[in-house]
Amino acid sequence: MKELIKKLAQVSAPSGRERKAHLAILEELEGFIDGHRFDNVGNLIVWKNGNGENKKKIIFDGHADEIGVVITHIDERGFLRIDPVGGVNPLMLLGVLMNFDGITGIVSYEAETDEDARKSLTQPSYDRLFVDIGATSHEDACKKVHIGQFGSYLSPFFDLDPMLVSKSMDDRVACAIVVQTIKETQHPYHDIYGVFAVQEEVGLLGAKVAAYDLHADIAIAVDVTAHTDTPKGNKRMDLQLGKGPAIKIKDKGSISDETIVRLLTTCAEENQIPFQYEVLVFGGTDAQGYQLTGAGIKAGTLSIPCRYVHSPHEMVHIQDVTNAVRLLKAVALKPNW
Ligand code: CO
Ligand code: ZN
Repeated sequence: MKELIKKLAQVSAPSGRERKAHLAILEELEGFIDGHRFDNVGNLIVWKNGNGENKKKIIFDGHADEIGVVITHIDERGFLRIDPVGGVNPLMLLGVLMNFDGITGIVSYEAETDEDARKSLTQPSYDRLFVDIGATSHEDACKKVHIGQFGSYLSPFFDLDPMLVSKSMDDRVACAIVVQTIKETQHPYHDIYGVFAVQEEVGLLGAKVAAYDLHADIAIAVDVTAHTDTPKGNKRMDLQLGKGPAIKIKDKGSISDETIVRLLTTCAEENQIPFQYEVLVFGGTDAQGYQLTGAGIKAGTLSIPCRYVHSPHEMVHIQDVTNAVRLLKAVALKPNW
């Protein structure tokens, strides 16, 4: 499972450019699914037919995109200016390495005067950031990158057993969970649709289209969520790494359908799977996209508590991941609910 997470998280595939992530997922699923297709907006949809008499159609969603940046300008000396793709706080970028399809860039900031340097550090903004790809001139830079090219964090995978650290755990850890669930569920009771949705980070685009397309009975979005278990973590919430996957009650974007909260809770209890309930006071997931599209689909979210979300180093607990797989398997196999 660790190898699978590493493989999917280390792929560079920001929102709108998910292809490489999709190909890695498909490679893993070969021989384990009954079919797959790409829809009009680029979602990868895979399915595995159930054999139950009263089977339902279930979506397990993990968004394939990751946050990133896009090149907006290349100056006369070959330095790049960028804009975020999704929620990338410029504060997170100071000193960070970015990957533009194999070209490495270092993010630094303007510092014409001491006061200017102080401002760049205390009020980082995209106006003050630039990227250095080691180019010696505009022409040299243009041989390596172009305006409109997407980039993502360049940061390695670390196994800090039991914690795992990588860029893009949001949301490749969920892609890995959905892949593993399908692999381990040879004979599901229900029809299982794995949706590896595009462009979650910029507005749940893929989930909204898949919801309209698939007419499923329920949709469970799998995504990372916040943590509160570091020094002076948010004291209005309780989310701990290693305490089990989190059954979301609500976040800023949606309230999980009560049926799904009950289904996940029952499956966890019946199989002695540890879990926690999540009330997130901000944020949102693809569940919202499924709920508000077409005639609406009953939807909820299964979350993986994660430290340092949207930073280059996102941390999850391996047992929360494996227990999420156990829980989704139980859902795929449970006859009546
Ligand atoms: Co995110
Ligand atoms: Zn996410």
